Amino acid sequence: MSKTSDIYEVMQTQRAIRRWTDQPVDRDVIERIIQAACWAPSGSNSQPWGFLVVTDDGIRERLAEAIRNWFTAGLADRPDPSQLPDPTQRRMLTGAFNLFDNFAAAPVWIIPCLVRPESPAADGLIAGSSIYPSIQNLMLAARAEGLGTVLTTPQEGIMDDLRAELSIPDNARPVAIIPMGHPDANFGPVTRKPLETFLHWNGWSG
Ligand SMILES: Cc1cc2nc3c(=O)[nH]c(=O)nc-3n(C[C@H](O)[C@H](O)[C@H](O)COP(=O)(O)O)c2cc1C
Repeated sequence: MSKTSDIYEVMQTQRAIRRWTDQPVDRDVIERIIQAACWAPSGSNSQPWGFLVVTDDGIRERLAEAIRNWFTAGLADRPDPSQLPDPTQRRMLTGAFNLFDNFAAAPVWIIPCLVRPESPAADGLIAGSSIYPSIQNLMLAARAEGLGTVLTTPQEGIMDDLRAELSIPDNARPVAIIPMGHPDANFGPVTRKPLETFLHWNGWSG
């Protein structure tokens, strides 16, 4: 799948990828991607992060089962994707549900953790704002390498399993699980509302 180092092309085509081939990802490529994550800015340059990379089949299968159980337990409260009128939403949610059912299909998982000196890990928007730029760097670097990712958030539902399986200390808080691999789907362009929807010059009404 196409690599590109054109930053605008990377951003415009960094679509959520939820299907991967079995091809393993080289360790040096993973290290380059994590290095890109670590170049991100953070409050006071605190760099409050750790990136767990999980490639081990046994670990991924055990945690994938935990995700499946958590997902299945909450299924009754979730919308049925096939009933959604908007085809983009329908496709997105169907893909998201399939992924929660078979998370081990991704050969690599990256679990970014917010690391705080206090214990337990501090919460909130300001704390979070010091790790999400690194996650964006990571996903853009993966796209540049021709690898597909999607930011997912099942971590809260399987927190005890994650901590036990990966020996995560109390002061580190997983904030996402990012499956990654060689895509079995096409990159972008992404679907977004027009720029005028979001851009305001010199005041909200401008
Ligand atoms: C904070 C956040 C949480 C997300 N959580 C999930 C998730 O749990 N499962 C999933 O499949 N996709 C998840 N996504 C991916 C979004 O669904 C996806 O980025 C969005 O639908 C836009 O699609 P696109 O990136 O292909 O343009 C998440 C994205 C963000 C930014």
